[in-house]
Amino acid sequence: MFFNEAYAGNGLPIQGTDVAVMWDSLYNFLLWLSVFFFILVVGGMIYLAVRYRKREGDKSKYITGNHLIEAIWTIVPTILLLGIFAWGYQVYSKMVHAPSDAMEIRVIGKQWLWQFQYEDGKSTIGELYVPINKPVKLIMSSEDVLHSFFIPNFRVKQDVVPGMYSSVWFEAKVPGQHQVFCTEYCGFSHSGMLAKVIVLQPDEWAAWKKGKSVAGGIGTVGVSGTQGGAPLAAESLPAQGKKLTEAKGCVACHSDDGSTKIGPTYKGLFGSKVELQDGSTVVADENYIRESIMKPQAKVVKGFNPVMPTFQGLVSESEMNAIVAYIKSLK
Ligand code: CUA
Repeated sequence: MFFNEAYAGNGLPIQGTDVAVMWDSLYNFLLWLSVFFFILVVGGMIYLAVRYRKREGDKSKYITGNHLIEAIWTIVPTILLLGIFAWGYQVYSKMVHAPSDAMEIRVIGKQWLWQFQYEDGKSTIGELYVPINKPVKLIMSSEDVLHSFFIPNFRVKQDVVPGMYSSVWFEAKVPGQHQVFCTEYCGFSHSGMLAKVIVLQPDEWAAWKKGKSVAGGIGTVGVSGTQGGAPLAAESLPAQGKKLTEAKGCVACHSDDGSTKIGPTYKGLFGSKVELQDGSTVVADENYIRESIMKPQAKVVKGFNPVMPTFQGLVSESEMNAIVAYIKSLK
């Protein structure tokens, strides 16, 4: 499988997504607009300095102003800047709003590698496998310090912050391998914190999902456990999460069937509006669930007592991802 190292022009990497095409158009516009005004302003300055240099016997005219010129240099830049704002907003909006049908993959950054968890329970290190022409949303967290996930060919980059989830999405249009960098200085081997996105054709994707290694991939596919040395079939991420809620004792206070125990039920929680003790409401998203596990007293649900202990240090990032995926699956 080939590595996409070609350039799109202007020193930019190849355009692996539609967003990359939009991004490049705006970038090129800004570049050439800057070149145009640089020549206009500096060229004009040099011309005028030479043309009207100090000569023997010259006396300058008394100039009070020129309303026409002042109006032009106010109105033209205003229109240009508002246009650039609207254009930039359009590109930014496309970059940050993942389609609702996007496939979700969890990303964990840690010194100094990238780990990926798929919905079916697979996990890979250093290689992110995705199907071509399908929107993919990455839900990212950090095991230790601040990292940043950057795919130059796709023109997407997002900080990966300890203690919270951040996300980024893309729809890959170019098959093959695309370089991933960490772009936030995170310690000794920051520059070596690399990964590859491996964009697969539909048949290759189907084969990979069945556990076959794919040409070009190193194939570090992990499964969720072993028994007597023999690998078990990977359980789905929500199934792993269900087991974790049992192992960690969550089920003593939280039901998954809508019934109320000491704490609120998981059923129908994800995406719902939760009313809190202080009368405010929050939407139960990934970050709400994470916070409620790590800092249970931060947002206490109305009608319940603040009796839950913190699980800070007791739940790893990959476990947290599985638990969130499980609660998310209980519609
Ligand atoms: Cu992780 Cu730099």
